[in-house]
Amino acid sequence: MATPHIDAQPGDFAPCVLMPGDPRRAQRIAERLMPDAHLVTDVRGMLGFTGTVAGRPLSVMGSGMGQPSLTIYATELFRDFGVERIIRVGTAGGVAPSVQVGDLVVATGAHTDSAMNQARIPGVSFSAVADFHLARAACEAAEREGARPHVGTVISRDHFYLTPEGQTQRLADYGVLAVEMEAAALYGVAAEFGRQALAVLTVSDHLLDHSQNMSAAERETRFDGALRLAVAAAHS
Ligand code: HPA
Repeated sequence: MATPHIDAQPGDFAPCVLMPGDPRRAQRIAERLMPDAHLVTDVRGMLGFTGTVAGRPLSVMGSGMGQPSLTIYATELFRDFGVERIIRVGTAGGVAPSVQVGDLVVATGAHTDSAMNQARIPGVSFSAVADFHLARAACEAAEREGARPHVGTVISRDHFYLTPEGQTQRLADYGVLAVEMEAAALYGVAAEFGRQALAVLTVSDHLLDHSQNMSAAERETRFDGALRLAVAAAHS
């Protein structure tokens, strides 16, 4: 049965969904990974595809930007379409000095300034953490291909443009690797439904070091690396 935001039937989605923010990136990922990919939903232009990778089913669907948008899609996928795993594949801004543009980040936990997870357990500061087995599978896949992702925490912020003075430096002091806008909510929804989630991020810029840059071609190559880790985790 269709849900308010996903016009598909149970069984249209694979148990594992890769989730970029941008729906057109979802289409490019689906076409790149799965010759047999077919469109399963396009409500509000939020494209979702299902196909197979090496004979195993996989879906790819956009989340939109920010925690409210992702939460709507992740909730409906887990609750109504039998999805077991969602792996966010997106971009992030570097925060830690060790992080370079083009690097990969496996986000084992996500701090947030958002109120979304505050509503979950009254009186509790919810810990938004990735599924350990998915994170381990992504790291093992990286090791097999000689890649060296950063592994640790990110910050999922609500504002893209408004940042309290000194906050980014303080996050760097606490070892936070990068900033993005969705992982904390994804980990919260996965906990709510007892399912698995992970974010594998490609660093597209650096908030404290503006000298770093990446060409469009390099960006695609690096993004392919993130996809390989995500698929390995999805099918682990
Ligand atoms: N915030 C700031 N910079 C970024 C982000 C973000 O969410 N994503 C990529 N670069």
